[in-house]
Amino acid sequence: MMKKNKNNIKIISTGRYVPPGTLSNYDLEKMVETSDEWIYSRTGIRSRHIANGEKTSDLAYKAACNAIEKANYDASKIDLILVATCTGDYNSPSVSCLVQALLGLKNIACFDVNAACSGFIYALSVATQMVNGSHYNSALVIGADTLSLYTDYQDRNTCVLFGDGAGAVIIENTEENKPADFYLSARGDLDLPILINSKISMEGRKIYQFATKIMVYSLDKIMKDNKLTKDDIEIIIPHQANLRIIERAANSLDINIEKFYINIDKYGNTSAASIPIAFDEYYTSVSKRSDKKVIFVGFGGGLTWGAAMLTI
Ligand code: ACO
Repeated sequence: MMKKNKNNIKIISTGRYVPPGTLSNYDLEKMVETSDEWIYSRTGIRSRHIANGEKTSDLAYKAACNAIEKANYDASKIDLILVATCTGDYNSPSVSCLVQALLGLKNIACFDVNAACSGFIYALSVATQMVNGSHYNSALVIGADTLSLYTDYQDRNTCVLFGDGAGAVIIENTEENKPADFYLSARGDLDLPILINSKISMEGRKIYQFATKIMVYSLDKIMKDNKLTKDDIEIIIPHQANLRIIERAANSLDINIEKFYINIDKYGNTSAASIPIAFDEYYTSVSKRSDKKVIFVGFGGGLTWGAAMLTI
């Protein structure tokens, strides 16, 4: 089979928003039988942000505004909005349509992508291919979730893990050599080790074992597909579900843990928001751009997983 040409995309700006309310491990000690020591040593989490009345669309809109403001971007150029979320305000309208309305934009394409925690990688892949086609030039891609609304704060197995937030990226098509590549996959036949219905239920150990293997496989695959060595990679931004999953992946591939961007201590698992929040923190902190590659890698409910390679 002939290998397709890589898509090129230019990162124009990034943004993030987390609600101001926080829930620390010490707060959780007062709610369920747990301890800061247990949570931190098993997950790497110290605190998380919790939306108090704000909806997923509010978080998504504020992250979008942050990205628009940082680049002083003319929002009227945006002709596509994609929101990755599994906790939309309604079944319909989509969060992306709500964000469009809040931004005052009209007559552009808007839809949501649900691949749980892998959602941002999926949405960015779709947006990249759309802006490399003939109809769209500028895409606003957001990952936003409010898992706190589905968290049972009497279940210590799950309530220590999740937080709320949103991250956003604006991309444009470009003539420059800025290749982007994606690997997406799923196994819907696996018997629902994580289910988000009225409340989250999860077989933590099962997901942990699956996640460690799939993170390694996905990272290795995107590197091999793009003939990248460790030295070609500037930073790896993993889904922030559990620090130990990230450490295991780093060890298995013999990649220095310093190459992985980690902020799980502040946010917990923010689902589709976790990678774009981390990317925004990284992207706004680097002064020099290079041709080195940024890799995203993640897994989530579905089960879904994937990886992305961007050139910044
Ligand atoms: N505080 C204290 N003890 C606890 C807590 C807690 N918060 N939670 C569980 N325990 C107990 C368990 O009851 C168990 O006790 P037992 O041995 O008496 O039965 C013991 O701690 C060990 O439990 P394990 O589940 O084996 O602990 P493990 O080391 O696997 O860590 C964890 C649990 C953190 C949930 C881990 O399995 C994990 O991170 N899994 C992946 C979860 C994940 O990524 N979910 C997101 C998927 S995608 C999405 O969210 C959309």
